[in-house]
Amino acid sequence: MTTAPLRTERLDLEPVSAAHADEMVDLLADRALYAFYADEASPSLDDLRTRYSRWAAGTSPDGRETWCTWILRDRSSDACSGFVQATVRHDDGAAELAWVVGTAYQGRGFAREAAGAVLDAVLAGTHVDVPRQPVVRIEAHIAPGNEPSERVAAAIGLVPTSEHDPDGERLWRLPRPDPSA
Ligand SMILES: CC(C)(COP(=O)(O)OP(=O)(O)OC[C@H]1O[C@@H](n2cnc3c(N)ncnc32)[C@H](O)[C@@H]1OP(=O)(O)O)[C@@H](O)C(=O)NCCC(=O)NCCS
Repeated sequence: MTTAPLRTERLDLEPVSAAHADEMVDLLADRALYAFYADEASPSLDDLRTRYSRWAAGTSPDGRETWCTWILRDRSSDACSGFVQATVRHDDGAAELAWVVGTAYQGRGFAREAAGAVLDAVLAGTHVDVPRQPVVRIEAHIAPGNEPSERVAAAIGLVPTSEHDPDGERLWRLPRPDPSA
């Protein structure tokens, strides 16, 4: 099972590989990206290569999750501008989405465009070459006050719930289709 490449109007969403580390390490060194994750260190190049190799495997070490990570390549500049992730839990068929866009590329609608494409692919089962199971729930965990991330979530159709994860992040979820509609 491998992550499928995706394409939007302006972006190529490339399944992550260790080789992307060289192009992403400077973007991820920017501490502004960690305003809501102050405890998260900027990765070194070696750390990032190791991390991306692990993510490229597509499955968690315990086999309980499918990991899909796409590096966003802006076709107009050929530059890597961020990434979007979908982590699909096999036990309950829930997909958790996350997004990061480099400071130089923010405010252009890239997160919204890429996250929307990933959401559509996950719902259609086209995020991987051979889907393991249908995804029945889509959610994102967003730290209090992370307004740009809340706007991305809302733009792709997620709504805030009253639930929080153990880190205090609010769960946003895609409403289930109304069966009476
Ligand atoms: C969250 C993030 C990915 C948004 O990326 P982006 O490409 O700039 O987002 P978009 O351009 O698609 O904008 C999406 C929405 O956020 C709004 N937005 C963007 N930057 C904003 C800011 N600094 N303050 C308030 N709103 C902002 C946009 O106006 C847009 O809202 P709209 O659709 O209602 O017009 C980016 O800010 C980021 O990487 N932050 C750091 C990492 C992070 O916190 N990730 C979230 C983990 S859950």
